[in-house]
Amino acid sequence: MSEPCVLVGVTGCIAAYKSCEVVRGLQKAGVRCKVVMTEHACEFVGPTTFRALTHEPVAVGLFDDASDPIHHVSLAQECDAFLIAPCTANVAAKIACGIADDLLTTTALATTSPLLIAPAMNVHMYEAAATQENLARLRGRGVRVIEAGEGYLACGDVGRGRLADVDVIVGATLDALREARATGATGGCEGAEPPACAAVGESAAPGASASAGPAASGAPARDLAGLRVMVTAGPTVEPLDAVRYLSNYSSGKMGYALAAAAAARGAQVTLVSGPVALEAPAGVDVIRVKTAREMLDAARAPFAGADIAVFTAAVADFRPARPADRKLKKGADDAALRAVELVENPDVLATLAREKRADQRVVGFAAETDDVLGNARRKLASKHADLVVANEVGEGRAFGTDDNKVWLVDAAGTRELPLMSKAALADAVLDAIVGLR
Ligand code: PMT
Repeated sequence: MSEPCVLVGVTGCIAAYKSCEVVRGLQKAGVRCKVVMTEHACEFVGPTTFRALTHEPVAVGLFDDASDPIHHVSLAQECDAFLIAPCTANVAAKIACGIADDLLTTTALATTSPLLIAPAMNVHMYEAAATQENLARLRGRGVRVIEAGEGYLACGDVGRGRLADVDVIVGATLDALREARATGATGGCEGAEPPACAAVGESAAPGASASAGPAASGAPARDLAGLRVMVTAGPTVEPLDAVRYLSNYSSGKMGYALAAAAAARGAQVTLVSGPVALEAPAGVDVIRVKTAREMLDAARAPFAGADIAVFTAAVADFRPARPADRKLKKGADDAALRAVELVENPDVLATLAREKRADQRVVGFAAETDDVLGNARRKLASKHADLVVANEVGEGRAFGTDDNKVWLVDAAGTRELPLMSKAALADAVLDAIVGLR
């Protein structure tokens, strides 16, 4: 069997030099690499560098290869996965819109193999609504978005937008090759054998490694490989005026633990998160939102593509009807402050789960101060969930803590779990979901 082939797309970004390390990392894992570059990428790294690394011709212009009049199609057909790293905001936007005006974007449109993109850009460009909508649209179509990291950016700003670590990008690509092989979805080298797990080497990041090992070896079981998981997490915040909001005490710990555990078990995970102070788990795509309505909008596409959806977020049931766009002042605005009118928010879980497919598994949480099990059973039905994780909330319980005690409620009955860390609980909940399937 021949080695698997990854087409590495390089776009015009200061992080383009890291593509060389990505190519080396994939080659070390036994992958043949070909490279396609945009013209702007050539301003940062020369094609000669990639030609030397890959011993393959490097493609840039649509009409460069006179011997191959349909170069974009042959490039697309030859690869088992197409990884674009770094991917600029511009290229992500073009792919999201189906624009194909150079060799790289034309090849992306012609590719039937798994497509992965690793965005890298300035923090404000990354957080811009247009970019986030484009990334969400791509995720919804099954494109794997390798979440950018946070830190000091080349432009001097600090924030999210840094190209993900090379190990994370290599690990995600190897995972995609392995999953494509399992499902027969590769477009390239027929019979290509994805690299052996050990070939990833010691450098692969936890959660992004392609190693599939039995739990007994200390590594997590990869029983969710090939599945897409969506998790909602954290609180929502609902503006009252320019400086105040309504919210709750959710820290996001439970949802982030679930996302991390699902990724470690091999799933492709999208985390839709309200405002929290937690780092994105390795290898997980994070969509950040503030309000309940934003959470519903952001969750639609990942939910539609998900095999499993877990709703841990503490979504505000109500929001101020008419938030002021200035600070409401004590004295001058007393009447308005005393008479704040609330309107009901959409129920993210119930709205999405109403349309769930027969093959999807949907899990809700129930945060209760009274009649925990009775309310959880009612929510199982009213929210169209397959499983409800019920927890008692209140002073020092569940919200913000590192451990939790829950009951698992499904159509078959109720199971009480002992107090345990949220990390252990995340695995217990995933075990219960696997048991439902
Ligand atoms: O984030 P942590 O600090 O780790 O805390 C964890 C937690 C306490 C937030 C978590 O364990 C938990 O209980 N999450 C659900 C909180 C909640 O809002 O529960 P609820 O009983 O009000 O809602 C039931 C379900 O409907 C939940 O799955 C919730 O995500 C969903 N919901 C609720 C209201 C709404 N408008 N939209 C929703 O999707």
